[in-house]
Amino acid sequence: MEQIKVKIGQVANKVEQSAVNQLLIEAQAAKNHLLKGDAAGSDFLGWVNLPEEIDGQMLSRLKADVARLGAKSRLFVVIGIGGSYLGARMVIEALQSEFAWARRDGAPYVVYAGHTLGEDYYSQLLDLLDKEDYSVAVISKSGTTTEPAVAFRIVKAHLEQKYGKEEARQRIVAITDARRGALHGIAEQEGYPSYVIPDDVGGRFSVLTPVGLLPIAMAGYDVDRLLEGARAMRKVCIEGDSLEDNPALMYAAVRNALYRKGVKVEVLVSGQPSLRYMAEWWKQLYGESEGKEHKGLLPHSLSITTDLHSMGQYVQDGERLMMETFVRVCKPSSRVPVPEDKDNLDGMNYLVNKSLTEINDCAAEGTIEAHVSGGVPVVEIEVDRIDEYTLGQLIYFFEFACGVSGYMLGVNPFDQPGVEAYKKNMFRLLGKPGF
Ligand code: PA5
Repeated sequence: MEQIKVKIGQVANKVEQSAVNQLLIEAQAAKNHLLKGDAAGSDFLGWVNLPEEIDGQMLSRLKADVARLGAKSRLFVVIGIGGSYLGARMVIEALQSEFAWARRDGAPYVVYAGHTLGEDYYSQLLDLLDKEDYSVAVISKSGTTTEPAVAFRIVKAHLEQKYGKEEARQRIVAITDARRGALHGIAEQEGYPSYVIPDDVGGRFSVLTPVGLLPIAMAGYDVDRLLEGARAMRKVCIEGDSLEDNPALMYAAVRNALYRKGVKVEVLVSGQPSLRYMAEWWKQLYGESEGKEHKGLLPHSLSITTDLHSMGQYVQDGERLMMETFVRVCKPSSRVPVPEDKDNLDGMNYLVNKSLTEINDCAAEGTIEAHVSGGVPVVEIEVDRIDEYTLGQLIYFFEFACGVSGYMLGVNPFDQPGVEAYKKNMFRLLGKPGF
């Protein structure tokens, strides 16, 4: 069973490996805070044991709801924002075909709402929902977030108009708090099947609760394998006590060592377009967990080779403020070789029979070499392949490393006071009673 590897052989242009090793004691102390729950944010550590403690009855009910709704839906609308949709979208987009929208059979195609207030987006979504059979998951831990609440109002009205109130009720699942919030009240009143987001699991750490599991299962993916991968990585993160044995400690240590040497930005880089939502999820996880008290690496992301033709110039030659973290996938799931052309008018015959993965790997190697010589330290995260199991590993790895790293940085990684500031202003501008 392959584990995730974190390689730090390319950071010497900014920090000596010995300086990273010196952070082991701090990383171990931060890990112990996570395990003992004796530091700030300790009431939000439910995610640490989540893969082990998943409720089997809940999972069976979830699969039954997925089968029931999947049988009558071509589209599945996931309504949520931030941690209430990014984890599911990361896994679904990593696993599904880039062209899944063109498919007419199989599991429902997942579309998203509640993550934007763009009016055209909803107008286009409603046009689509006019034409296709669909069901809905409305997901909000607080049950009071404006964007998903507005989206749910719009989609619910459409659903009731299309199918009638009773059938609409059969096509909605609510995922929210056990007791509080407007969504909890609506779900109870309307009698929607509902799932609880545990009190001690914050939004951005909730992908392995029904928040992520229900949409992922609805898209046709194996949530048992996802949880299995997370369980395997949990064991490594909890038992591994050295940087070599514990990739989460290594990642937390190297990014803190670089931050202390003046690095301000971490760029997550991948050669797989299907991992673009992993980058979005990772940005939320690290940005919301660490960006506090005027501290923390700014998370950014690039997709290669696409972005080498735009941001590549800046990374090579602009302000020296960033590190890069390359997510490298060792085994491709498919092979597309370059065909022979006897005329060779384009001069590409030197690539004949090489697969795109071989070419892409050379692009990544060449990029790392160039950026390292340009003064950018590079960390590599190696994963064997992309499937449910390895995604489960990656989710738990990034979450655990985030907790360790946040404590090493000296912040509470589990609150998000900054997210509230814009809401107060928006409510005042909209004339919400009490604001
Ligand atoms: O990580 C978090 O806590 C936030 O990003 C939330 O997920 C986001 O604000 C959505 O909140 P809610 O699920 O309460 O609607």
